Amino acid sequence: MACFANLPMISSPNPNPNPNLKASASLSQSSISTKLHFSSQFSSLSPSPLSLRCNQTLILRRFGGRAPSVSPTLVVVASANPNSLKIMISGAPASGKGTQCELITKKYDLMHIAAGDLLRAEVAAGSENGRRAKKFMEKGKLVPNEIVVMMVRDRLLQPDSQEKGWLLDGYPRSQSQATALKEFGFEPDLFILLEVPEEILVERVVGRRLDPVTGRIYHLKYSPPENEEIAARLTQRFDDTEEKVKLRLRTHHQNVEAVLSLYEDITIKVNGGVSKEEVFAQIDSALEKLVKQKKATAGPVAI
Ligand code: AP5
Repeated sequence: MACFANLPMISSPNPNPNPNLKASASLSQSSISTKLHFSSQFSSLSPSPLSLRCNQTLILRRFGGRAPSVSPTLVVVASANPNSLKIMISGAPASGKGTQCELITKKYDLMHIAAGDLLRAEVAAGSENGRRAKKFMEKGKLVPNEIVVMMVRDRLLQPDSQEKGWLLDGYPRSQSQATALKEFGFEPDLFILLEVPEEILVERVVGRRLDPVTGRIYHLKYSPPENEEIAARLTQRFDDTEEKVKLRLRTHHQNVEAVLSLYEDITIKVNGGVSKEEVFAQIDSALEKLVKQKKATAGPVAI
């Protein structure tokens, strides 16, 4: 079942709304009457504000979190920069997504949005969503969409993500998450898949350590801490055990093909089984090409 909202006038710099929003708009000099078609699957998910993007230039936000049938108030909260990069990075647990995101953001200054980090922040805050999420994370299962989807969407809609561009790590992990993102109007330019042999993954997980002060990712063998002071404060994730990584791997295998099939034409497969510098070199070359193409033409490009 679909639900509809009749939205009041708001000025728009672009008369061609993004078709991915499933929106129809009729424009006149002084008004816009827009009928928006929301997927029933996600229309009732969140008490948070409902936000939409039109053709990368206009973000509309409704305050109050009421059902879309209530006449909403809209304001422009951000303008997306059409030249900013929109990247997704995917791969099995411990394939090196977070490590590569550190390197990518350092060079390209994108907003790194990691679904796992957002969830761990909720867990650490002890919120209701965090308590629910932890039960799934401990079993290596996907956290339900009603928690994850709006969390990621809200972060993507922040002005910094819209202006600088985004690097989405660990999302989407299912077809329904990908569909939701598309319906909110978020389309990536590039989908990076890190491919790493399974026997390496377990060793990477078990040896991983995190620095709670800087957020940096270390590995006891492959990327050891620089000094004793850092070594003494490193922590280990609650799901970084050999037993749990096997469950996480199973979940990954169950979902990865469905997600990949949606991004086939913009996917690059990267050999993630080599040193982190060599992995980055592969990604960097694709990103440099993308930046050049973006400067020449706006919008998604074939790699
Ligand atoms: P998440 O936090 O995303 O975990 P993950 O996907 O299992 O990935 P990791 O963070 O474990 O690994 P990584 O690929 O970032 O590797 P890293 O760079 O750290 O998700 C956790 C849980 O949250 C999920 O299980 C699920 O329950 C839930 N969740 C998350 N997203 C969700 C979603 N969209 N929907 C529903 N639920 C969701 O590297 C690992 C180690 O290897 C490090 O020690 C690093 O130093 C080392 N290393 C990295 N690269 C190299 C290299 N090239 N050579 C040698 N060592 C390397």
